[in-house]
Amino acid sequence: MRHAVVMAGGSGTRLWPLSRAARPKQLLDVIQDDPADGADGGAHSLLAEAFTRLEAVLPAERIWVCTAARYGAQVQAALPRLRPDRLVLEPVARDTANAVGLAAALVAEADTDAELAVVSADHVIRPVERFAATLGTAFDALAARPQALVTLGIRPTAPATGFGYVRRGAPTEVAGVAEAAAFKEKPDRATAESYLASGEYLWNSGMFVWRARTVLDALADHLPATAEGLGRVVAAPAGPERDAVLAEVFPALPKTSVDYAVLEPAATEPGRVLVADLDVEWLDVGSWPALAQTLASHDGNAVGGLAVTLDSAGNIVFSDDPDHLVALVGVRDSVVVATADVTMVCPVSDAERVKQLLAAVEERF
Ligand code: GDD
Ligand code: MG
Repeated sequence: MRHAVVMAGGSGTRLWPLSRAARPKQLLDVIQDDPADGADGGAHSLLAEAFTRLEAVLPAERIWVCTAARYGAQVQAALPRLRPDRLVLEPVARDTANAVGLAAALVAEADTDAELAVVSADHVIRPVERFAATLGTAFDALAARPQALVTLGIRPTAPATGFGYVRRGAPTEVAGVAEAAAFKEKPDRATAESYLASGEYLWNSGMFVWRARTVLDALADHLPATAEGLGRVVAAPAGPERDAVLAEVFPALPKTSVDYAVLEPAATEPGRVLVADLDVEWLDVGSWPALAQTLASHDGNAVGGLAVTLDSAGNIVFSDDPDHLVALVGVRDSVVVATADVTMVCPVSDAERVKQLLAAVEERF
């Protein structure tokens, strides 16, 4: 049967100081409700949006969420329809190769032949209907090629260095799905520019479809320490005994993402990786300029919360406290973020360096 898992254990460091280790971006209510959906005009989280999006394709009992144990209670509270036995908790975050492996092992235990969609928790995608249709197409491709690793690909609009790139190869028997001729995770700028100019590459959306067994086999080939460790975990009976093995094994697994560990090497095998065209408006809400695209626009500034701007443009202004006004005059192209305990200011062009700034802050405090 078809299942899906939302990967929701990232820490969102480039959205500091809004996103915090204790409450990362995917759990923050930063997406305004759309009154057209009959909502009450409040806001919801990216995670809730990811879950609801999957409900267009699957019943809630086949939607799993994988996150770090420290976020377990917040995830369950944000997702009232998530079945408690579908919440997969990692003792610590070891990046997506291990998270995907753990989730796949537990899904396969529940349903040996499970086909599994893996999605991110940090995307805005419109319209949902087209996403649902493409996910269906990717599952169809699996019916034709059961051993395939299918990624959903997005037409690139810029030489972004924070994404994976997939080169489209020969078409398959399923319309809209091609063989992937190559996969490169987070290329340098010059390489990304050449990929964009070639017109042959798509962005990896960070969403995949495969059989749970297939991705476990791929981990056995390319990341044997993870496959071996996870094998020990599921060999233990579910309950306290398994939890103890997980707590011992998981923190020692090699920290790496599924893109580097599985997709890059697998794409060198002809026909192993497929790419399905996902033709939607798509946003990875990973940084302040990305989040700004979801905010209201006032006088040429992106504004969230209480703010007044005068003769100022190109700014991203955000206050997460309804009693805390941010006021700007004569300011250009800056990010200004106010929270109860931190004020952060940087040029928009340095927004990617917020991660470094946070590291410097953590060294001091
Ligand atoms: N459970 C769990 N555990 N989830 C995690 C972990 C972890 O250790 N680390 C990250 N995640 C979740 C994040 O919360 C997010 O939903 C998703 O996995 C992807 O992680 P990111 O850290 O946001 O990855 P990325 O954006 O740098 O790169 C990935 O996504 C891009 C598109 O958004 C890659 O797949 C790229 O190839 C892709 O282009
Ligand atoms: Mg991301």
